[in-house]
Amino acid sequence: MDKGAINVRVLKNSLGISHEIVRKVVCAGDIVVDATVGNGNDTLFLAELVGDTGHVYGFDIQEVALRNAQEKLQQADVLKRVSLIKDGHENMDQYIGQSVKAVMFNLGYLPGGNHSIHTKANTTIQAIQKSLDLIVPHGIVMLVIYYGGDSGFEEKDAVIDFLKTLDYRKYSVLMHHFINQIHCPPIAACIEKLK
Ligand SMILES: C[S@@+](CC[C@H](N)C(=O)[O-])C[C@H]1O[C@@H](n2cnc3c(N)ncnc32)[C@H](O)[C@@H]1O
Repeated sequence: MDKGAINVRVLKNSLGISHEIVRKVVCAGDIVVDATVGNGNDTLFLAELVGDTGHVYGFDIQEVALRNAQEKLQQADVLKRVSLIKDGHENMDQYIGQSVKAVMFNLGYLPGGNHSIHTKANTTIQAIQKSLDLIVPHGIVMLVIYYGGDSGFEEKDAVIDFLKTLDYRKYSVLMHHFINQIHCPPIAACIEKLK
């Protein structure tokens, strides 16, 4: 290898970036939310970060997703740290009566599932607004926005338009978008609550 060469990619994909940011914020004992449980990969990631003394609230509207996630969490012996809730994330305030450190969203459809069931602009924006009420100062809402294909562009465009309206004195919003790739590479967006 050339002197000084690096043999790992420096720029992670959007999911990798989202995990890097969340890992900086979430500690053992924290209360967090996975707003789109799906097959449970992010739920497991969060359950490991919060440890035995923390808790993860996970939402999905599909029974099959929650079953897959439950199996994954059971295998990793972290199911006790998670409440899996079969309801839309737009209703999260009905289940969570305390402040949370972070809320994660992976928008789009369930990988390996029915592509016609996917997150939608209207309910996603409602859920982001509720998340912003629930997070503590310097807590985050982390979004990975999958779009194109069966999910279309409407949700991505509406969510980005909404994020642009957030008051810069209250929230800091960062978008991470690869601009030279083919197809529709997912976009990571992070909102930090400032006060
Ligand atoms: C891209 S997948 C999530 C992938 C997941 N993070 C994983 O690790 O497998 C999006 C999920 O959002 C779910 N979903 C769609 N609308 C929803 C809503 N209103 N509330 C909660 N979940 C929803 C879908 O059922 C799907 O499982």
